Amino acid sequence: MSETAAKKAKVIALCGKGGVGKTSLSAGIVKILSSDPKNKVLAIDADPAVGLSMALGITVHKTVDDVRNDLIKRVKSGLESDKEQMIALLEYEMFSALEEHRNVAFIAIGRPEADGCYCQVNHILKDLIASVANNFDYVVIDGEAGIEQVNRRVMKKVSHLVLVSDASAKGLNVAATIRRVAQTAIDYEKTGLIVNRVRDRGEFNALKILPDIGTIGWIPEDDTLRAFDIEGKSILLMNESPALAGLKNCLSEMGILVSSEKPDCTTQIKKTQGF
Ligand SMILES: Nc1ncnc2c1ncn2[C@@H]1O[C@H](COP(=O)(O)OP(=O)(O)OP(=O)(O)O)[C@@H](O)[C@H]1O
Ligand SMILES: [Mg+2]
Repeated sequence: MSETAAKKAKVIALCGKGGVGKTSLSAGIVKILSSDPKNKVLAIDADPAVGLSMALGITVHKTVDDVRNDLIKRVKSGLESDKEQMIALLEYEMFSALEEHRNVAFIAIGRPEADGCYCQVNHILKDLIASVANNFDYVVIDGEAGIEQVNRRVMKKVSHLVLVSDASAKGLNVAATIRRVAQTAIDYEKTGLIVNRVRDRGEFNALKILPDIGTIGWIPEDDTLRAFDIEGKSILLMNESPALAGLKNCLSEMGILVSSEKPDCTTQIKKTQGF
């Protein structure tokens, strides 16, 4: 149940400014990785607004925050005092909060702590998330804007920290800040930037991106993605689309997809550092 046990899974966390496409890209990554039935994929929604569940067409019945609050209530009312028993109960509840659809499982973190820091419970929950993650090949975390949240509420270690931005200077600036904060806030192996909603290669090439941020690639503005969002359709049902093709390129660049899985389309990589 230690964090080292989660090493087997590739843990991909997406962070960036509000509204830049973290949830859409997280769902797209889950779709691509789970297209191979051999892959077991865990999707973690670390945003209290639980947007990832909608993007994947999954109904959330219980969040990690619900599990936490139930336990705190039990401790306060004297029902729970034994630590071993508490861990066993949390483990059971955590698994019951997991929604499973074929080779995709989903868990939502829920609201941030509203009523004080129950650090011990938070630590146990984080260990349990790491323990659950150990059963999967890939873990995809749809983070909020702040990387500290991922560290505090989801996992201390991720293998791939993906910074997401749109083409705006504001978005790119937030990505650069997250990258700086991440250096001390989270334990990651690789990091880089995906620029989403780019009109074309010309627009991408003209962007002023700090070279040390390590650009992975870009995702085009995609009407299919837009239409799925408008209709509230699960991205798991999306077959091909320009956004998915761009994401596959990015996953290859990150070393997550092997080259034989790479789609036959022109590479969108500008420059790479970190991956
Ligand atoms: N490549 C794209 N092409 C077209 N539309 C896109 C693309 N990426 C995202 N969108 C649209 O942009 C909007 C915001 O995307 P999304 O919800 O994924 O962003 P987010 O970063 O998760 O936002 P939040 O910070 O609110 O959680 C959605 O309506 C989505 O459909
Ligand atoms: Mg979102």
